[in-house]
Amino acid sequence: MPRKRRVLSGMRPTGRIHLGNFEGALKSWVSVQDEYECLYMVADWHALTDNTDTSHLPELTFDMVADWLVAGLDPARSTLFIQSHVPEHAELALLLSMVTPISWLERCPTFKEHFRSEKERASLSYGLLGYPVLQAADILIYKAEFVPVGEDQVAHLELSREITRRFNKAFGEVFPEPQPLLSRTSRLLGTDRRKMSKSLDNYISLTAEPDEIRRRTMSMITDTKRIYRSDPGHPDECNVFAFHTLYNDPERVEEIRRGSATGTLPCADCKAELGDVLVRFLAPFREKRREIESDPERVYDVLRDGTARARRIAGRTIAEVREKCRVGGLPGTAGAAPTRRKRNAP
Ligand code: TRP
Repeated sequence: MPRKRRVLSGMRPTGRIHLGNFEGALKSWVSVQDEYECLYMVADWHALTDNTDTSHLPELTFDMVADWLVAGLDPARSTLFIQSHVPEHAELALLLSMVTPISWLERCPTFKEHFRSEKERASLSYGLLGYPVLQAADILIYKAEFVPVGEDQVAHLELSREITRRFNKAFGEVFPEPQPLLSRTSRLLGTDRRKMSKSLDNYISLTAEPDEIRRRTMSMITDTKRIYRSDPGHPDECNVFAFHTLYNDPERVEEIRRGSATGTLPCADCKAELGDVLVRFLAPFREKRREIESDPERVYDVLRDGTARARRIAGRTIAEVREKCRVGGLPGTAGAAPTRRKRNAP
């Protein structure tokens, strides 16, 4: 059987997974586990690029990895690990930084966003500028051919590909150019119609309790053009309707569409129904979370095994890279620690 092709992806440790992360990334991570050899990492170094308060990092990491298992990442098929436990990423990032023009990094949309803020500009770190270099190293250290990415990561991946080409040109063909692995993801907005995120507190967790799910769905902003209850609505512009299309039965979704469009289904009823639908949909995830919390050691074991595997692969790549780059070598040695030379060799 031919070797499965390799996939790598990562997420910064932000704690429990919410529906935005789940629909936008994690679901596709789960779905490619059979077809590809998958490596998934906690990008804890990346988390430091714009915030060096690490006081909650351990809990955020645990909570996120536990939810990865909840969502269906399967350690028997996928390698789960923490980036900083594989220091080879940092060595490769250093070497990649040598072939990466600063102008490319300054052009990166994420960097530009931070740079635009007058308040932040003076304190932007070298680490933030180098974010895409480290991300390229994450992928290349495993010679991953595919990276499942959400739309917000497309620019980073394009930079990774450019850095790969520059490296290969400078030192020889070491790395395959990583391709985006596009899958059908859904962009779910938060309860306030902005991007769903922890910091905006507009999220619904994969493992939320029923009362929290109901509270958060009832607070959702609906169709902003519908002012009176009997006004005809615009289901295709309504965020609550978008949730129904994902989680309610198709037949019922059509009834809701009509009820909304004709103004006969009040928004409050529509949201209450969504609450019920989500409570039901998320029940197995809540259950699985309880199971994992009753045996947290399992998460530690998964990460320990994953790290060991990741380090084996990363170690082989970095040895090849040192040799190709001819760094650390002496005459007659290939980028390896010198062994004792025979003194009186004939
Ligand atoms: N930048 C990604 C994010 O914010 C996380 C990440 C780090 C990543 N390294 C990666 C994603 C390598 C894909 C591949 O979500």
